[in-house]
Amino acid sequence: MPPIKIHGMIDPHTHLRDLDWSHKGSFASETKAAIAGGYWAVFDMPNTAPSTIDDALLSDKLARIDKSAYCDWGLYFGASQADNSAEYESIASRVCGLKMYNNSTTGDLLIASSAMRERHYRAWTPNRIIAVHAEEETVANILDLVRKYRQPTHFLHISSEYEIKLLTQAKQDGLPITVGVCPHHLFLSEDDLPTLGAFGLMKPELKRKSDQRALWRAIRLGVVDIIESDHAPHTIAEKEADEPAYGVPGLETTLPLLLQAVKDGRLDLQQACDMVSLNVQRIWRITPLPKTYTLVDADYHYLVARDQLRTKCGWSPFEGMRVCGKVLEVWIRGHKVYDGDQVLSPPGFGRNLFGFVA
Ligand code: NCD
Ligand code: ZN
Repeated sequence: MPPIKIHGMIDPHTHLRDLDWSHKGSFASETKAAIAGGYWAVFDMPNTAPSTIDDALLSDKLARIDKSAYCDWGLYFGASQADNSAEYESIASRVCGLKMYNNSTTGDLLIASSAMRERHYRAWTPNRIIAVHAEEETVANILDLVRKYRQPTHFLHISSEYEIKLLTQAKQDGLPITVGVCPHHLFLSEDDLPTLGAFGLMKPELKRKSDQRALWRAIRLGVVDIIESDHAPHTIAEKEADEPAYGVPGLETTLPLLLQAVKDGRLDLQQACDMVSLNVQRIWRITPLPKTYTLVDADYHYLVARDQLRTKCGWSPFEGMRVCGKVLEVWIRGHKVYDGDQVLSPPGFGRNLFGFVA
């Protein structure tokens, strides 16, 4: 088959690291990995130390990523215990959204109290997404806030049958919500944990096969809007430690895994492409850019191997899996930034898709 053309791939859920966590990854290394994975742009989460929770920290991070990113990008602001609501308007104009952690994970941004969650919902601006980490019962708690404040809310890394049930109902009720699912929850399950060990640990954790089936059913029914990697690199030593870090890399494996599912007849090709491009653009209200696309050879098969990966962490939970699709070219704003082998854009080429650098 001729190469597939995908218009403007965006991963709105990545942890590019850098700053105090540069040993795990950097804006440079992980945006290069993103381009090799086919992406035009990636949105970076605020939990990298120091957390992106005030204007000064946001300005520093914007300046830093602006100098080093090879692809386009957006940054999330982190909801915290601090009351930043007075600054929210100026902050919102420079970020892709507010990230609210409602269950515990890497970093220290957990918002455990309902009153605090509500304060952020009340204060945040409606023209930028609130992206939530919410698992199980917490999904219901956040849905109550969406019902009350009508803030457009994206539910990140949905992984269980119960969560899908709640969100399907909420969509039927007309709430302004969208749903993201990660490749690791679609292609791995708790049955893989004995083999993967700590390399299969992430938040939310790998679930039962029945949960995995519910995610695939939700994709078929159109309840899942996007596939996001939750690219969260940690070093091999950190994964092999006594208390292993949660999180797995994913920027270079998302598209090949989805195209393998297409090949296996589990997924429609157009839907696979839309879930990593047009649907993300629609949710984050990004105008598609001309001459910004990815060409993929969908006939190319290979096994995922760590020595082919560009992510600084140098491993993948999908190693050894058969996947399909080779990224041949990536074009951003009329510039060829990847030729199937080398990243061609210079550092700092990437632009903020949300406003200007302070
Ligand atoms: C993420 C990380 O390491 O930053 N880890 C993970 O397991 N997904 C944090 C997160 O997104 O929860
Ligand atoms: Zn994440």
